Amino acid sequence: MSDQDVDLERRRFLTISTSVVGGVGMAAASVAGIMYWTKSERALALGAPTVVSISRLKPGEQMVTLWRSQPIWLLKRTPEMLKELVRLNSHVKDSMSDESELQPSYAKNQYRSIREEIFIVIGICTHLGCSPRHKKAKELGADWGGGYLCACHGSKFDYAGRVFNGAPAPSNLKVPKHHFHPDNPNMVIIGVDPKDEGAKS
Ligand code: FES
Repeated sequence: MSDQDVDLERRRFLTISTSVVGGVGMAAASVAGIMYWTKSERALALGAPTVVSISRLKPGEQMVTLWRSQPIWLLKRTPEMLKELVRLNSHVKDSMSDESELQPSYAKNQYRSIREEIFIVIGICTHLGCSPRHKKAKELGADWGGGYLCACHGSKFDYAGRVFNGAPAPSNLKVPKHHFHPDNPNMVIIGVDPKDEGAKS
C-alpha cells in the first residue's frame, strides 16, 4: 500500500473533533464551533446530551465525539459493510443483541442501530476499558471484512460493535441512548431516547 493510500484511509476514519457538547436546545447553531464554558456550565454539560451534525459524513467515514467524557463513534456504513454484518452473524457472540443492557430497545437488532446505515456506539472495550482502533478490510487477514481491534488483549469487533467469538471482551460495545432530530435527520442527539421509544426517531 502506498503512503497516499494510507493517508486516504486515515482521512476516511478521521476523528472529526467534538464540535458540540451541549443541550438539545443548542442544536444546529452550535455545531460549527467549539464552545467555551464557565465552570458550572461545564459541570452541567457533563451530564448533558451531545448534539452532533452528521451532514458531512460520507459512506465509509466515521467521526468521533464525546458524551459524558466517553468517545462516541458515528459511522456511516456502506452497503458492503451491512452485507458483511449479515455474513458475520455466526462469528460473533451476541449477533442479535440479546444482552439488553448493552443497547436501547430501538437498537436491539443485528445492525444495532435505528437507521441501518448510521451506527452510533461508545468506543470503549467491554473487557478492561481500552479504546479499540479501526482496522480496514483485509488488514487483519484475508477473512477480515473490517471493524475494530482492541490491541490491549486482542478483542475484535465488527461494524456493529459486536464482539467476535473467542475474544476476551465478554460483550458487544455499548450503544448509547440517542435519536435523530425530528426535523433534521442529520442531527443526532446522544444521551436522550427518542420521544417515542421504539418508534421512528
Ligand atoms: S481491554 Fe479490550 S481486549 Fe482487553
